[in-house]
Amino acid sequence: MSEHDDTPSNYASNVRAQYEAYPFPLRDPRDEAKRLVVAEQECLGKLNHFCFGGRQSFGDGFRVLVAGGGTGDHTIFLAEQLRDYDASVTYVDISRSSMAIAQARARARGLKNIEWHHSSILDLASLNPAPFDLVSCTGVLHHLPEPERGIDALRRVLAPQGAMSLMLYGRTGRLPVYAGQELMRLVNSGVDDAALKIRNARATVQALPDTNWLLRGQDAKGIVRNFLEDESNLYDVLIHEQDRAYSVPEIYDFLAGADLELIEFTSFHSDPPCFRYMYDPMPWITDSALASHVAKLPRATQQAIAEAIHCMLTCHAFYAAPGSEDRIASPEDLEMVPFFLYFDSSSLAQHFRGASGRECGLNYRQSTVHFEVGKYSAPMMAAIDGSRSLAEMIDMVRAETGGVATKSELLEDFMAFYRPLNCLDILLLRHRSVAPFREYPLEVVA
Ligand SMILES: C[S@@+](CC[C@H](N)C(=O)[O-])C[C@H]1O[C@@H](n2cnc3c(N)ncnc32)[C@H](O)[C@@H]1O
Repeated sequence: MSEHDDTPSNYASNVRAQYEAYPFPLRDPRDEAKRLVVAEQECLGKLNHFCFGGRQSFGDGFRVLVAGGGTGDHTIFLAEQLRDYDASVTYVDISRSSMAIAQARARARGLKNIEWHHSSILDLASLNPAPFDLVSCTGVLHHLPEPERGIDALRRVLAPQGAMSLMLYGRTGRLPVYAGQELMRLVNSGVDDAALKIRNARATVQALPDTNWLLRGQDAKGIVRNFLEDESNLYDVLIHEQDRAYSVPEIYDFLAGADLELIEFTSFHSDPPCFRYMYDPMPWITDSALASHVAKLPRATQQAIAEAIHCMLTCHAFYAAPGSEDRIASPEDLEMVPFFLYFDSSSLAQHFRGASGRECGLNYRQSTVHFEVGKYSAPMMAAIDGSRSLAEMIDMVRAETGGVATKSELLEDFMAFYRPLNCLDILLLRHRSVAPFREYPLEVVA
């Protein structure tokens, strides 16, 4: 494990002071013996599907940068997945105490594929790193006084065919949080001491009535308990001094300013979790005239409408690259192998049997997607085993129908369930030349 301990020079001192005193998220390295925190956005199967056309084997010296790695969730998960690959992970953060926790977690796991830098994202170029194939930066850029400088610095160290895995706060979804931050600023008027700010914030949280936006319509007791039990979270959410959020159009603009394009939004393990189908306004719009008007609007406008309709996107998790074309694995390539991620599909084919032409609602982690089951959806679903390619599935099901079903009918009835399940990130593709990815037990840790 190589270790650099350069003193960061280019950062907001109040932000560094916060994360030195309250490393985020709160993690105990001893827990590594019990469980691995899964940062879902960084599952190799998802990265391969969305960023590398399904053809990335993560070998040949694959290089990952985790920028603003905090206490290590994304670093550890990526390094654990890449343990037996010819690949490395580079960690960068301005908080020495956060880095110490992340390093202790890596030691507890015996991970030897991480390079550590106590450094600012804005000083990255001076580290003179080789270009990175993947840059992961979650929950960091919105804490920079000038996020544009941060994304520029990351863009400069990205390989031409590389991709970014990012998370920025969502504007409408976090309106209650900003009302809460305003309240904490008021009760902490004239207070500079961080410990006293926390004390006042705790007392205020305990006083909140159910009408407060932070609690309205939610598990009020659970939310209050979370704040009281985890001071790092309390500070990060309600007292943060450097925090902004983005609407969908602002994300497109932010990326364009750094010569990047959005590939796709992805799921994020907030509570409730955010999924890509939430960026589609159509399930909410029932009036047909309005639906046909909205359908003609640009993709970004449609996504912005969805965001403003349901107000549930507290975080925007997404993949980006210098060019977004041909990044996502395509089911038009029949050499692709469909596989499930974090979803037990064992009873699905059974549900589809006899349901041809009927609408099906699929519930997954507090979300529901609706779709129409096709005539051959059941056998196409049953043919998915994580190693058969689409071409092989089609041949197999065609033979089962005595050659009656055509290739295009079978593909269409596969797409009937592929599209909605892919919007939940639970049905993905990888090229047959790429070995299957290991799935780690999904334990949702706040
Ligand atoms: C909210 S935490 C997120 C940690 C981690 N990415 C995660 O998702 O678990 C933000 C982190 O960004 C780091 N950070 C803030 N500004 C930074 C900068 N200019 N350079 C490097 N790290 C920075 C903080 O020290 C903190 O650890």
